[in-house]
Amino acid sequence: MLRQHASDQGAWQNALQQIQPDGIAWIREEALDPLLVSEYRDALHALGMPVRLESQLIGGEGLKAWDVLPTLLDMFESSGLSRRSLVITTGGGALSDAVGFAASVWKRGMPVAHIPTTTLAAVDAAWGGKTGMNWGEVKNQVGTFHPPTFVHVDSRWMRTLSPREFQAGLAEAAKHAMIDAHVNLSPTPSYADLVQGAGSSVDAWNTWLEQSAAVKMRVVAQDPQEQGLRSVLNLGHTLGHALESACLSTSTPLLHGEAVAMGLAFALWEAEHPALCEEQLTPDAAQEAATFRAWLNHQIPVSRTDWPAAGVLWAFMMQDKKNVGNEVRDVAWRGTGRLVWPASWKKAAFEATWHDFLRCWNEPSPPSDP
Ligand SMILES: NC(=O)c1ccc[n+]([C@@H]2O[C@H](COP(=O)([O-])OP(=O)(O)OC[C@H]3O[C@@H](n4cnc5c(N)ncnc54)[C@H](O)[C@@H]3O)[C@@H](O)[C@H]2O)c1
Ligand SMILES: [Zn+2]
Repeated sequence: MLRQHASDQGAWQNALQQIQPDGIAWIREEALDPLLVSEYRDALHALGMPVRLESQLIGGEGLKAWDVLPTLLDMFESSGLSRRSLVITTGGGALSDAVGFAASVWKRGMPVAHIPTTTLAAVDAAWGGKTGMNWGEVKNQVGTFHPPTFVHVDSRWMRTLSPREFQAGLAEAAKHAMIDAHVNLSPTPSYADLVQGAGSSVDAWNTWLEQSAAVKMRVVAQDPQEQGLRSVLNLGHTLGHALESACLSTSTPLLHGEAVAMGLAFALWEAEHPALCEEQLTPDAAQEAATFRAWLNHQIPVSRTDWPAAGVLWAFMMQDKKNVGNEVRDVAWRGTGRLVWPASWKKAAFEATWHDFLRCWNEPSPPSDP
C-alpha cells in the first residue's frame, strides 16, 4: 500500500507507529546536514522501536552498480532484518532506487519508506515504486516495482544541495505541470529563502514539491505496472536521455534534470512546429507553451554551446526502452494534459527539428517574465 503524508514533522513518526515494524534500518546519504540528522535520529529513538541499523553511504549513481547490492544485503543480514522490518532511506533518487531494490528482494520483499533529500527525488524518484540498478553501462536495466510504505517530504534536507542540483530537479516538476492542469508552477518558492532558513519557505517548498509529486501518483494509480498511461511521464525524456548519454563522456556532462529541461523545451518547440504528430496547437496551448518555456529558461538555465549532432542523438534514441521494432517512440505535447502517445519519430524529421530548435535556442531570447 502506498500512502502520501503531509509534510508536518509528526507525519513520519505517525506512519511508523501504524506500521509497527520489528526493526528499523535507516540508510542515508553521507553529505546531509548533521543537525537535521540529529533531529531525525532523536525523533526516531523517541518512538522506542528497535533501530537495528544506521548507515551512511556516499550517494549518487555509483550506488546503483550491481556490485553494491551484496554490501546492502550483508548489512540487512548482519542487522537481523526480517520481512516485517522497515528500511528508511534518506537520500537522492540513486539511493532510494538502490536501497529500494535491495529491500524488494530481501526475504522476497521488506517494506521501504523514503525521505527524499533532492528536489528530483521529492517530486519524482521517491514516488511510484520503481526501483532500479544499472547493468553494465546501461541505466536501470534491472529493477522491481516495490511501492514505498510512505514518502516524507521535508525540504530542509535540500538546503545542502548545490544550486545546480536543486534547480535541475525542478525539471520533473515542469513535466508534471505540462501533464496535469491541477498543478501550477507559479508561484515557485524561492531557493534563496530556503537556504537562508525562512520557515515559511520550507512550508511553501514542501507543499509545492508534494503537489507536483501528486501528479505522478495520479498517473501511477491508474497504471502501476507501466502498461500504457504511465508512459506520459516520459515526456521530454526520449531526447533527455539521449542528451544525457551523449554528453556523459564530455568534459561537461549534463545532470538528468538539465537534460530533461532541454527535452521539455524541445517538446514545446515540436508542438509549435509539428513534426512528431500532425495535431496543431490551439491558441490557448500556444500561450501555455510560451509560459512553460519562460519558466524553464528562468529556473533551469542550461548554458552550453557544444550540443551533440542530431545523428549522435538519434543513435541513442534508437536504444530507448520504449521503442518497438525500429521506431523511436515519444510523447508529443499539445497542451496541458493533452499528450499524444505513442508518436513515432522519422529520422529525417527528428534531425530537421533538432537542427531548427538548436538554431533558435542559441539565439538570444527576449527578457522573460515567468
Ligand atoms: N525510481 C524512479 O521512479 C526514478 C525516477 C526518476 C529518477 N530516478 C533515478 O534517480 C536518480 C537521480 O536522483 P537525484 O537527482 O536525486 O540524484 P542523486 O541521487 O544521484 O543525487 C545527486 C547528488 O546529490 C547528493 N545529495 C543528495 N542529497 C543531498 C543533499 N541533501 N545535500 C547534499 N548532497 C546531496 C548525492 O550524494 C549525489 O552526489 C537516477 O539514478 C535516476 O535513474 C528514479
Ligand atoms: Zn526523469
